[in-house]
Amino acid sequence: MELTHRPVISSTGLFTPSETISNAELVESFNNYVELFNTRNADAISAGEVEALAPSSVEFIEKASGIKARHVMAKDPILDPETMEPRWPERGNDELSILAEIGVLAARQALEKAGRDAKDVDAVLCAASNMQRPYPAMAIEIQQALGIDGFGFDMNVACSSATFGIQTAADYIRAGNARSVLVVSPEITSGHLNWRDRDSHFIFGDVATAVLVEDAAIAPAEHWDILGTKLKTVFSNNIRNNFGFLNRASPETEGTPDKLFVQEGRKVFKEVVPMVAQMIIDEADRLGIEPEGLRRLWLHQANAGMNRLIAHRVLGHEANDDESPTVLDTYGNTSSAGSIIAFHLNSEDLKAGDTGLICSFGAGYSAGTVFVRKAA
Ligand code: COA
Repeated sequence: MELTHRPVISSTGLFTPSETISNAELVESFNNYVELFNTRNADAISAGEVEALAPSSVEFIEKASGIKARHVMAKDPILDPETMEPRWPERGNDELSILAEIGVLAARQALEKAGRDAKDVDAVLCAASNMQRPYPAMAIEIQQALGIDGFGFDMNVACSSATFGIQTAADYIRAGNARSVLVVSPEITSGHLNWRDRDSHFIFGDVATAVLVEDAAIAPAEHWDILGTKLKTVFSNNIRNNFGFLNRASPETEGTPDKLFVQEGRKVFKEVVPMVAQMIIDEADRLGIEPEGLRRLWLHQANAGMNRLIAHRVLGHEANDDESPTVLDTYGNTSSAGSIIAFHLNSEDLKAGDTGLICSFGAGYSAGTVFVRKAA
């Protein structure tokens, strides 16, 4: 078959964990922890040696972020104020790791939707903000579990991992190095979230997504043409996670809060909104696309207010939920998976010829745009 070297999105897949935590449950647990902490440290607090913790509130969370609930792999004992971390037994080397397992579930759905046999896939990219381990790569484990003959590797660009993965996959297609590439984003963010941190305990949720990027020549009739992809990174300390293999060289700081997700949320909001809005407008211009004519924006799901502002700048008017759908309310921030969930759940109703944008942004800073047009 003659290849076109034109990359398309053939299908997507989504795995959603069955367990959820509502804001009310989350805040109740957090406030129990605060009360316990303040009682246990009452003397030190009154002596001015320790700062008392302040309670969280459902109203604040919903107003500041738009998040109402999140899915997690295991609710218990995250809500137990004595633990506030996920727990599950470590798996043996001969078992599928938990991150690979959910990646495989999302990937299978994408393959099925495209009618694609695993043996016809050439590569697997595991694009996510946290990996189970340094090696062997999660992508290779997923590749093996699916029975794919080819290659795989992991890539981490935090919240932008999936769009960076899509561009990487698209470049393989453009260069003729692959015909079919799976981009899998398993995000078990409950593992990097500091459930004891009032500023961020409400942010994240667990999920896995998969995107099948292929040469137009082999794609199913129902697919999305990729009109253009663009990536951008600008260094910032405002979203950080210092967890890493060299932590053991400094045992004095083992387990400090910076070994989990930390951010200066307000600064992120202020700096990322204009950066991303401009990037979208510039890239639309380069591709000869009128931003106002975009039928739908599938934006990164971190904050409803950020999305409102970005969509307004791009479309030139206040976007409604049909133009810029949110999944943040039920999924929370799922890091790199957010814009893909939005696309997966809100794209079937579009008509052939409709143009839209998948866009992610987050730590790094990093941002990625994927302009798409429905083919059929
Ligand atoms: N419950 C109640 N009040 C809280 C609270 C909580 N859980 N957390 C913080 N507050 C308080 C603060 O103490 C502060 O009080 P003050 O005004 O008396 O000082 C006030 O609420 C505002 O805090 P701030 O942190 O400035 O809130 P915000 O409006 O910036 O919202 C975020 C916080 C995180 C929701 C928001 O900044 C955000 O989403 N930013 C973008 C983050 C992002 O995209 N990150 C990418 C990660 S992938």
